[in-house]
Amino acid sequence: MNEQIAMEAFLPSKDGYVVAVVGATGAVGQTMLDILAERKFPVAELIPVASSRSAGSSVHFNGKDYVVQDLEVFNPEGVDIALFSAGGSTSKEHAPRFAEAGCYVVDNSSAWRMDEEIALVVPEVNPQALEMARYNRIIANPNCSTIQMVVALKPLHDVVPIERIVVSTYQAVSGAGGKAIEELAKQTSALLSGGKAEVNVFPARIAFNVIPQIDVFLESGYTKEEQKMMDETCKIMGAGIAVTATTVRVPVFYSHSESVNVTFSAPMGADKARDLLADADGICVVDDPVGEDYPLASEAAGTDFVWVGRIRDDDSCPNSLHLWVVADNVRKGAALNAVQIAEILIYQP
Ligand code: A2P
Repeated sequence: MNEQIAMEAFLPSKDGYVVAVVGATGAVGQTMLDILAERKFPVAELIPVASSRSAGSSVHFNGKDYVVQDLEVFNPEGVDIALFSAGGSTSKEHAPRFAEAGCYVVDNSSAWRMDEEIALVVPEVNPQALEMARYNRIIANPNCSTIQMVVALKPLHDVVPIERIVVSTYQAVSGAGGKAIEELAKQTSALLSGGKAEVNVFPARIAFNVIPQIDVFLESGYTKEEQKMMDETCKIMGAGIAVTATTVRVPVFYSHSESVNVTFSAPMGADKARDLLADADGICVVDDPVGEDYPLASEAAGTDFVWVGRIRDDDSCPNSLHLWVVADNVRKGAALNAVQIAEILIYQP
């Protein structure tokens, strides 16, 4: 991966780096802390940051407790890398002041993703885009449902260019944060014990339901989540690809699943696709119709792979394939992707 990016290091070589996690008390922030520790990221100093609501509380990292700082008054001087997952408006307001202080910001919100000057990066797919960040020091992490799809499609696109993608998603509630996880749990237990489900986070009851709306509707009839998937896929993989998406929330805690129909510019074939995916970085193929084995959200949760199965030729359309793509949305879809970007930032060629 690292050979594909420039020969000049982003950060100087050090034994350990000062790392701030902004949104450290949230679902993604907590997983960022876990993944930094699991992957033995060289952290000399860890600074958890959140809003004034949780400033003064503590979070756990690598066997120790750390006091959460208030973002409003936090001075980013001396921070090498800040991993942000505290929402778009927080990022719009505070990421520039971190970058101006000399820190690299890896931002998990949608605030910067489609800014032409900002790199939108999935390390397995377009690490070279990171070059843009040398000057503005802000790097955007794509949307969770985009990340897992482009990881699965890039190895195929490199061999036979993709012309069109039709994707339908089955997205876990954790993509909407800690309160959404609580809402599914509370509604499920209320309904099972004969009570009423209170709806606060989602546009409708999510327990025992399927909601074909993620984020707000646009004039086009697509939702903002669908538009994000379409725009981000083109920014990462190339503007020439036609993409259409339907994004759906399902009552699953962790891992997004996606039905992806792909049309190539020439024959690809299910067998060749299976072989290419089996050799690709970050992908695990589980595709055994005889043994009734395929990727499941329950099995992908807590793992770092993008799982691909149900690979089959689409006989209704020339040069087309179906894939079923599953990944832990909080890990590869957010926290892990951000930490992988941070690993490139500290890489010494
Ligand atoms: P806090 O705990 O202080 O509210 P989730 O996506 O799971 O809901 O988590 C959101 C994360 O973003 C939390 O850590 C939350 O901190 C943080 N956050 C939300 N708004 C702000 C803000 N205005 N400034 C700093 N952190 C924020």
